[in-house]
Amino acid sequence: MKKFASLLVSLFAVFISSCNSKSEEYIDPRGTDYAGSESCIQCHKTQYDMAIKSSHFKATAPAVLGNVSGNFDSGDHTFIYDKNTKLVMEKDGDSLYQVLYQNGKETSRYKFDIVFGIKHAQTSVYWKNNNTYELPVSFYHSINNWGTSPGFPADKPYFDRMVVKDCYTCHSSNASSRIVNQNSAEKNFMAMDVEDIIDKKTIVYGIDCERCHGPAKQHTEFHLKNPNVKIANSITSFKTLNRQQKLDACALCHAGNDGMKLKSRFDFKPGNNLSDFYRETRSINDTAQFDVHGNQFRLMAQSKCFISSEKMDCITCHNPHDNASKNMTSYSKICMSCHQTMKHSDKTLKSMPRNLLTDNCVECHMPKKASNAINFQLSNNKKLSNYILRTHKIGIYANTKK
Ligand code: HEC
Ligand code: HEC
Ligand code: HEC
Ligand code: HEC
Ligand code: HEC
Ligand code: HEC
Ligand code: HEC
Repeated sequence: MKKFASLLVSLFAVFISSCNSKSEEYIDPRGTDYAGSESCIQCHKTQYDMAIKSSHFKATAPAVLGNVSGNFDSGDHTFIYDKNTKLVMEKDGDSLYQVLYQNGKETSRYKFDIVFGIKHAQTSVYWKNNNTYELPVSFYHSINNWGTSPGFPADKPYFDRMVVKDCYTCHSSNASSRIVNQNSAEKNFMAMDVEDIIDKKTIVYGIDCERCHGPAKQHTEFHLKNPNVKIANSITSFKTLNRQQKLDACALCHAGNDGMKLKSRFDFKPGNNLSDFYRETRSINDTAQFDVHGNQFRLMAQSKCFISSEKMDCITCHNPHDNASKNMTSYSKICMSCHQTMKHSDKTLKSMPRNLLTDNCVECHMPKKASNAINFQLSNNKKLSNYILRTHKIGIYANTKK
């Protein structure tokens, strides 16, 4: 009996230690085909160091201090709805909140749990019942201040807009959801009984290496075992993809969101065709204006440069591991690699000294435009502000000179 007990104890110890060693090993929520970005550093430090700082990697993040933009507790940190109602950004220890005050009294508080966006704007969500809900006020860099979240009212606070999985498919690398039948006794399936919940533990924040390159565990293991092999194994090379496949790898998230979905965006791997994921409802030649927000692909596809060159893609101008360059001269060099000669009229040539003209192709031919899909309102005066991005429809525009 005593022997048996000690056997049990030692078995238990083995069990515990095996659990420990297992939990130390990183298990990717996407499954065993994925290695996780951290594992790429050892062999691809250049790409890693650049990408980790990029907006792609920060497209979603846990809302811990340092990831959240905007003022809390001091400076501009209050959104006033009316004389009795205000929303205040507050910090409490390591947590951040939007706190609602009515007639001077705190009536509710909502925690910043996940942030979306980094470059121009940042909106945040809080967890409630295994789903995320958007906070009513967002941060905008153009005004360096808080404003209403897109589509939210400026006269009353609203906390019930669910941020569904669809948002995560463009802003993260994974988020698994489950359909939960809330009332299984009910024979009559009503939409209300069935709820799609997001599994918190399965979120892989940001757009990581394997979101663009596909699962790379096998690639990683092969090269760890075969350090002398310098030719890539078990990974799709972008060099072998045709133009449409290269475009699709970016258009997955940069071609708007009005197509009919056939498959989850999360299932897309480089080399797949986007047409297997979406049925487009609008033709590329649609005279309708595609929005400057979220639809770089369709705008670019309407440009003569794209149509006539038969080779322009996103990588022509962007390093996929880096942010858009702030240096407009660098883009001009790319324009001039195809446009050695330009027929500018005397009027245009007189409008700008030659050296400025050759450095600023983008200012005139890809001007900044206001989005029709997104605008926001400020506290107090409720002034409507535009959300401004650069158009990717390269063309000749009137009155664009500065
Ligand atoms: C043990 C080393 C090693 C690790 C770890 C590793 N790679 Fe590689 N990878 C290589 C080698 C070697 C090549 C081929 C030479 C080159 O292109 O740098 C390569 C090439 C690549 C290429 C280019 C393929 C092509 O031909 O265009 C991509 C993309 C890539 N790796 C992605 C990843 C990702 C993503 C990770 C992390 C999940 C990763 N690698 C981890 C060794 C490694
Ligand atoms: C999984 C979705 C997804 C894919 C795939 C994707 N992007 Fe993005 N991209 C985003 C999101 C979301 C943002 C906004 C990031 C932010 O500011 O929060 C973004 C931002 C960018 C930016 C602006 C970054 C900055 O700060 O200047 C560029 C440029 C860009 N993407 C180019 C590309 C290119 C090129 C590809 C293809 C190689 C690509 N993207 C593939 C979702 C994606
Ligand atoms: C937004 C999508 C995207 C993300 C995120 C991304 N890559 Fe890439 N990567 C690409 C594309 C597109 C190419 C092909 C570039 C080309 O052909 O010029 C590429 C090329 C590469 C190459 C081949 C060498 C080179 O630089 O062209 C390696 C290696 C690589 N990526 C590794 C990584 C690693 C490691 C990460 C994460 C730290 C990562 N990538 C994140 C899209 C991405
Ligand atoms: C079809 C892909 C797609 C979907 C779906 C999508 N977004 Fe985005 N989102 C993008 C891209 C691409 C950008 C950056 C480029 C741009 O604005 O054109 C962006 C930008 C943003 C930004 C501003 C980031 C910045 O600074 O550029 C926020 C905030 C944001 N999205 C939140 C959301 C939320 C919340 C949802 C769901 C309601 C959502 N997005 C759904 C693709 C998507
Ligand atoms: C890959 C090569 C390529 C690149 C890069 C390129 N273009 Fe073009 N672009 C073309 C071609 C080809 C045409 C069509 C010429 C024709 O039809 O006569 C064109 C046409 C144009 C036109 C005339 C548009 C119209 O609607 O009449 C303008 C303006 C222009 N490009 C400006 C630019 C600017 C600015 C850049 C950089 C931001 C640029 N291009 C980058 C190849 C390119
Ligand atoms: C002819 C060059 C060119 C091509 C091709 C190109 N871009 Fe850009 N892109 C730019 C320039 C210029 C900017 C603006 C940088 C700025 O103003 O800071 C930009 C900015 C962006 C931004 C940030 C939006 C903003 O206004 O801050 C995103 C996202 C983006 N590009 C995605 C793409 C995608 C996706 C593709 C392919 C469908 C693509 N780009 C093709 C030149 C290009
Ligand atoms: C001050 C604004 C401005 C700047 C800067 C500018 N352009 Fe233009 N561009 C125009 C206008 C306006 C036209 C239409 C013809 C005209 O009125 O001059 C034009 C016409 C063109 C055309 C079509 C005519 C042709 O040659 O086929 C191309 C291509 C072009 N520009 C390329 C460029 C490139 C490349 C740069 C940068 C090196 C550049 N432009 C800088 C305003 C500008």
